[in-house]
Amino acid sequence: MAASKLVRPTNTFKDSFMEALIEYQSEGSYGHVSIAELNTDFDAFIDKLRDERQYPQHDFQDWVDPVPETVLWMVKDGTYYGSVYIRHRLNWHLEKWGGHASFSIRPSLRGKGFGKKILQKAMPYINYLGIDRALLTVDPENIAAIRIIEFCGGKFEDELPETDEFPARKRYWLNCE
Ligand SMILES: CC(C)(COP(=O)(O)OP(=O)(O)OC[C@H]1O[C@@H](n2cnc3c(N)ncnc32)[C@H](O)[C@@H]1OP(=O)(O)O)[C@@H](O)C(=O)NCCC(=O)NCCS
Repeated sequence: MAASKLVRPTNTFKDSFMEALIEYQSEGSYGHVSIAELNTDFDAFIDKLRDERQYPQHDFQDWVDPVPETVLWMVKDGTYYGSVYIRHRLNWHLEKWGGHASFSIRPSLRGKGFGKKILQKAMPYINYLGIDRALLTVDPENIAAIRIIEFCGGKFEDELPETDEFPARKRYWLNCE
């Protein structure tokens, strides 16, 4: 068994990514990605991801300052396990909701320690992009993500209450130097 690693998205992992996408969509995430479109032209999707296309991808586009975003996939034994999204800087929106980085593990592979691994492995990449201290924001109810951030050394900053525009978020600073 090979160790897990982070790679730039590539069509090598198309089959397992498509399986994971169905899992993500059944839990209500990745709604902006069309399975039909990806089945037709997966390479175009990969090109967009590798182009460090801007955050946000869809939501809030009309009023949020776009920010370059690097997407990495965690893979192991030729299979897609999860994604990490690294924003190269903060904007007004990301300071409150989103932060420098977010991560996900495909639902069928959760609870096996890969969430801890993906953030640990992302830290040198975050630093490589010029970010010494990364802001991570998390739903206060998301116990698994909070454990991962704290395991990686994240220092609690504050908790922002829910507003009309944003859900509540705990904010942490992660030293990636
Ligand atoms: C958050 C997420 C990445 C966790 O992935 P994972 O692979 O299950 O995480 P791990 O197996 O490494 O578990 C990390 C810790 O959380 C705990 N945990 C896992 N699932 C849990 C759950 N449902 N409830 C409570 N704790 C949980 C684990 O026991 C572990 O704790 P430990 O410190 O005692 O070992 C995954 O649930 C996910 O992709 N969620 C959707 C996206 C998301 O919320 N991203 C984070 C926002 S930045």
